Amino acid sequence: MRFENRVAVVTGGGSGIGRATSIFLAEEGAAVAVADLDSTRASQVAEEISSAGGKAIGVTCDVTSTSDVRSMVKKVMDTYGQIDILVSNAGWDKVMPFVDTNEEFWDKVIGVNYRGHLACVHAVLPHMIEREYGRIVLVASDAGRVGSSGETVYSGAKGATIAFSKAIAREVARYSINVNCVAPGLTDTAMLAAVREGNERLMDAITRSIPLRRVGKPEEVAKAICFMASPDADYITGQTLSVNGGLTMS
Ligand SMILES: NC(=O)c1ccc[n+]([C@@H]2O[C@H](COP(=O)([O-])OP(=O)(O)OC[C@H]3O[C@@H](n4cnc5c(N)ncnc54)[C@H](O)[C@@H]3O)[C@@H](O)[C@H]2O)c1
Repeated sequence: MRFENRVAVVTGGGSGIGRATSIFLAEEGAAVAVADLDSTRASQVAEEISSAGGKAIGVTCDVTSTSDVRSMVKKVMDTYGQIDILVSNAGWDKVMPFVDTNEEFWDKVIGVNYRGHLACVHAVLPHMIEREYGRIVLVASDAGRVGSSGETVYSGAKGATIAFSKAIAREVARYSINVNCVAPGLTDTAMLAAVREGNERLMDAITRSIPLRRVGKPEEVAKAICFMASPDADYITGQTLSVNGGLTMS
């Protein structure tokens, strides 16, 4: 039980990678706050965990709103009294050429995929610093390492996430707080289904070019996230682990 007596917050925990991560963390003993913009999904995942004998609460939270994030963290502190693990996973994108995007779209993509991490890390750090323990995993994307055509603003936000994780990892290492990124490649979730729409041929071609010849399962990314959040990764900080079937290698 790697997460016995630990309390974890998982943003975007209502679906895909976040859901699988919430379930795995709970299976290994953590009390999990499943935080999601979609309150129905957040409570469904929390109920799924509770009915399997685990500990979880669902919390509605829009990571683009600093006040929402602060209330979510307060609720978790009021319920469980501590936060040991943050999995900042919420993400969103819509594929389109950069020339067709506008400021409103930039703000939304940057808000969810970059600013959301800032708000969550900023809200949990005071508690982690006080207890001199923390494991923070930011879910980035291979798009942030190598770029993804049609996902320009998203790639920029994910690249910023990776750079931020390294800087904050240096700042808080003295408090035994580790910060790492997990960068999924193509993963079979609702987000990928939305990206596929209208881009089926391109997506099939990309899938064929993956050395392992298939897209990943959310559980496969969740295992890497749990590793980074666990004592197995105590001496790892400021790193980015790609989980991508070999699509990019660096
Ligand atoms: N699926 C992929 O191929 C893929 C590839 C690379 C990176 N990622 C990243 O993995 C992470 C998880 O994505 P997924 O594939 O599981 O997608 P998903 O759509 O299945 O889940 C994303 C969850 O985030 C929630 N969410 C969206 N905006 C939010 C907000 N403002 N506040 C709080 N919650 C919000 C959604 O309600 C949803 O439950 C994201 O950061 C995504 O960018 C996914």
